[in-house]
Amino acid sequence: MTKTKARAPAIYQIYPRSFQDTTGSGIGDLPGITSRLDYIAGLGVDAIWLSPIYVSPMMDGGYDIIDHTAIDDRYGTMEDFDAMVARAHDLGLKVYMDQVLNHTSDECPWFLEAIAGDEEKADYYLWRDPKPDGTEPNNWFAQFGTRAWTYNHKRRQYYYHQFTKHQPALNLRNPTVQDHIRTQIEGWLDHGVDGFRFDVVTAFLWDESLKDNPVASQEVHEKVAGETFNPYTFQDHTYDMLPGDGASYAANLRKWAGERAYLFGENTSGNNSIELCMDFSQEGRLDSTYSTDMPEGRGSPATFGDILSRGADFQKLPGWLSSHDQPRHGRGDASDAVLALQMAFLPGPWIIYQGEEMGLTQPDLAHHEVTDPLDLLWWPDGPGREGARVPIPWDADGEWYGFTDGCPWLPMRWDRDVLRRAQGKGGMVDFYRRIIGLRRDHGWATAKIEDSSTQNDIFDLTVVTEDGTRYRGVFCHGSGVSADTPEAPALICSDGVAPSAEGWWGGVWKL
Ligand code: NOJ
Repeated sequence: MTKTKARAPAIYQIYPRSFQDTTGSGIGDLPGITSRLDYIAGLGVDAIWLSPIYVSPMMDGGYDIIDHTAIDDRYGTMEDFDAMVARAHDLGLKVYMDQVLNHTSDECPWFLEAIAGDEEKADYYLWRDPKPDGTEPNNWFAQFGTRAWTYNHKRRQYYYHQFTKHQPALNLRNPTVQDHIRTQIEGWLDHGVDGFRFDVVTAFLWDESLKDNPVASQEVHEKVAGETFNPYTFQDHTYDMLPGDGASYAANLRKWAGERAYLFGENTSGNNSIELCMDFSQEGRLDSTYSTDMPEGRGSPATFGDILSRGADFQKLPGWLSSHDQPRHGRGDASDAVLALQMAFLPGPWIIYQGEEMGLTQPDLAHHEVTDPLDLLWWPDGPGREGARVPIPWDADGEWYGFTDGCPWLPMRWDRDVLRRAQGKGGMVDFYRRIIGLRRDHGWATAKIEDSSTQNDIFDLTVVTEDGTRYRGVFCHGSGVSADTPEAPALICSDGVAPSAEGWWGGVWKL
């Protein structure tokens, strides 16, 4: 199979805990991933991205790490990992690992030693004395919406964290911390890894003055990532988020990982999101960086109009709509096929979240079933991260849908008839195979945009591929306004893949 030449891979995101269990533990594992690699390669994607499989107390779904160099027993062993990488490579798939450099778990030995009084380790993090009245050193909030400082009575100091209190922020300016990071990156490269997804690159640095953030203007308030009821959005993140040329830190990541590795970053800033993504993806930095604009706008034409007007280069801005952090975008109807085709046609890298190719929709969970700290904080109005993590239903007829022989860690209540249709001939999985194949064979991923319009809820895009061929894609998002399309039959369209949805239709033409 010929893979995409330029660096615009189709990446399949795996959230290992919810992918495939082989031990009956109810939690997915590495041998489970290996057993499904043929399926993934059969979709035609270029790479897999693995959410964290490192040793973790799981206070934030594995993004709270005790040891960035070791595999958590829940998922298997280093031998299992090596076997998975070998099989992926045999199938022509690249393997990208999640790297969570921004913070450790509060159970990480470095942090425990800092608490015990080791000042060298204390400087791996950010500790500050309370104000004379005992309150926090400044007004910063964690992104989830709690205060960014937690008091530790042993040190009689506050430590800084940008997510849960179980994720103390690492001081990435500390040279010894940088040495650790370099070693850990080199270690994974030695295990054959081909690239990395860097967690929250926009949270990496803060202004050492630790000044209070100013109050957000109405405009900034609405743009900062997260729900507007989250107090984090009440501030303009002038001092806690990448002051000055903070994006240049990405040059270190490139230096440590080398030229050959595919590097992509997650931007959770909201403030100037697209501009920051471009900054992180400059020459000598990351290959690409993605923001939350696309999923938050549900891939709408207006969202793309906004992104285009801000000068985005799509080669540096992966397209995506769902992840382990966002509610699934699927609705179980034609809109899923329209959005899939639109993302396949869009130039640049494309991240597909496990199960979206099955047309999975966001499951409802009861409060007592949820473990995710962010969902619980704002229940029932949180983002729905846990719903997006409900395990994958491989087999519409199996007791636990072929995910586990035990009891799944989250309840699985998928509609079996809907699944049979999606996984059957001509259903959504087949459609993903076709469009990923067309993207590859026609060179859409590395094409240049020639013309675009995002009026009337219609995304109309003309691109020119590297060999000079022009293609036009028209994607109608339910407004009922009919699009003016070429007379010739489309190369591919969204008809018949899933139950129709009023005003939703998409097609691509070779011009
Ligand atoms: C982004 C990850 O995708 C998310 O799951 C996590 O909660 C935060 N970063 C903190 O690591």
